[in-house]
Amino acid sequence: MVDRPYTLLSCGMSLDGYLDSATIARLQLSNDADFDRVDAVRASCDAILVGANTVRTDNPRLLVRSSERRRERVSRGLAPSPMKITMTARGDLDPWANFFTTGDTAKLVYCPTASVPAVSRRLEPLATVVDAGQPLTMRRICEDLSDRGVQRLMVEGGGSIHTQFLTADLADELDLVVAPFFVGDSQACRFVGDGEFPWNAQRRAPLAEVRQIGDVVLLRYALSPRFEMR
Ligand SMILES: NC(=O)c1ccc[n+]([C@@H]2O[C@H](COP(=O)([O-])OP(=O)(O)OC[C@H]3O[C@@H](n4cnc5c(N)ncnc54)[C@H](OP(=O)(O)O)[C@@H]3O)[C@@H](O)[C@H]2O)c1
Repeated sequence: MVDRPYTLLSCGMSLDGYLDSATIARLQLSNDADFDRVDAVRASCDAILVGANTVRTDNPRLLVRSSERRRERVSRGLAPSPMKITMTARGDLDPWANFFTTGDTAKLVYCPTASVPAVSRRLEPLATVVDAGQPLTMRRICEDLSDRGVQRLMVEGGGSIHTQFLTADLADELDLVVAPFFVGDSQACRFVGDGEFPWNAQRRAPLAEVRQIGDVVLLRYALSPRFEMR
């Protein structure tokens, strides 16, 4: 039996593989039509996961933007937006960040065992702090989410999180959007870091779809037999 949610990795990157610039200002990689596509994918999921650095640097709300999609979720007995999930060892997360203060939806923060007391003091009751073992692994998080009824998980980065999901072979789908420009600064965050990936020169990832969306291109890779064609 599968003990983890259907897991979809979603990300935008520059032509040279960066997720962001190295400056403080957030870099817009995609366009409005693609943001709307991402919104529809969000609305179809039970939970959205990002790393703590993304919460700190981008301050995302991680909510479904379209009121029609929110209404449709509510009519199905769901919260207007999916559950929000992050993880941290250091616990340096601002309780006033949009992640915690926006949206009528559950928020979970996974931590390694040693960090749980300090993170709980800082973030509860704004979020539920979950002991994810020592060390914390993405597999453990996926299993716990499955126990909580999460069937579809959307992973929205950043690079450290994508690297861990991919190297642990926990992704069923990769939705990669390529923006038509270069960042050209090795101080910026890459789509993935170093690691041993199940997809390499000997085992090429099946490309399931290529879609032009204005000036960006969406590449959808089927990373497991569970891949769902939409
Ligand atoms: N283009 C896109 O689609 C997109 C999407 C999202 C993000 N981004 C960009 O990606 C960048 C952030 O990526 P990033 O790789 O630096 O960081 P990240 O993946 O967002 O978060 C990394 C942080 O998550 C926590 N974490 C990760 N794995 C952990 C583990 N196994 N155990 C405990 N804690 C763990 C740690 O938090 P603590 O340090 O708190 O312990 C770690 O520093 C930003 O520049 C953002 O703009 C781009």
